[in-house]
Amino acid sequence: MGIQFEKVNFKYAEGSVRENTALVNIDLNIELGSYIAVIGHTGSGKSTLIQHMNALLQPTSGTVHILDKKVIGGKKNRNINSVRRRVGLVFQFPEYQLFEETVEKDIMFGPMNFGVSKEEAALKAHEAIQLVGLDEDFLERSPLNLSGGQMRRVAIAGILAMDPEILVLDEPTAGLDPKGQLEMMEMFHNLYENHQKTIILITHDMNDVLKYPKRVVVMNKGKLVFDGGPLELFSKRDLVKKYQLELPDLIKIRDEIENKLNLTLDKTIKNVDELTQAIVKVLGGESHAR
Ligand SMILES: Nc1ncnc2c1ncn2[C@@H]1O[C@H](COP(=O)(O)OP(=O)(O)O)[C@@H](O)[C@H]1O
Ligand SMILES: [Mg+2]
Repeated sequence: MGIQFEKVNFKYAEGSVRENTALVNIDLNIELGSYIAVIGHTGSGKSTLIQHMNALLQPTSGTVHILDKKVIGGKKNRNINSVRRRVGLVFQFPEYQLFEETVEKDIMFGPMNFGVSKEEAALKAHEAIQLVGLDEDFLERSPLNLSGGQMRRVAIAGILAMDPEILVLDEPTAGLDPKGQLEMMEMFHNLYENHQKTIILITHDMNDVLKYPKRVVVMNKGKLVFDGGPLELFSKRDLVKKYQLELPDLIKIRDEIENKLNLTLDKTIKNVDELTQAIVKVLGGESHAR
């Protein structure tokens, strides 16, 4: 039992002059154990969509099933507090929300807020700091004296310390340098692969969309307009164009090679090695492993 959206509509400032329809008739079924990317143009409704996944926003109409809870549009939904712990939502630039004197206190805040004892929360902080790839020495430091990338890891550790089954991330690599981006993406992959976390990730990086998730959903003007595999999406050039998406570098390179050399290459290529092998194969050579 993961998260299911059933005919979900959402309007900001409903009934006022500023009313703004942000989600239109969303049906979406997310199973536990999946890794899904959410992409789409700015303003397409991605952030609004994911804030429904832990009931931070509630539908204007329709229903969101979150684990064992039901969030019904237009109603006062009670007893949904537990989903805020079980579905960890990491906002864009989460480091802006760090406020305690030490990293440890900051990470402990979430678990303690959900009734975990101080001792237990401290244990969770020690586990979580390692999960995000930082040394335990960081726990004693002030969050304000860290680099941007380190601050963001601490903010994510604060969410992980609550032991969520599902991790929802809103553009978590935005503003990081390339090395920081790669490390962050590898960290989420590790949480998915080795810690059984369900990952839902908003990103603008099509290289990451090709590399990490098995499934990608595309938002456009509040509607969910594509739901399928990354390779399938990038093969549908009419959709890529219509929704103003970029192609991953690897696919751009494959296209160029096909056009310039008048070749047809394998359409399932997902990394540089596979591309190299495919080129060598059609050129009739042998691929020597280095
Ligand atoms: N707090 C808000 N109040 C009113 N309108 C909002 C608010 N947040 C977002 N919107 C509007 O809702 C639509 C979807 O926004 P958003 O979910 O933030 O898209 P994305 O994350 O894809 O950029 C946009 O038209 C945006 O202007
Ligand atoms: Mg957004």
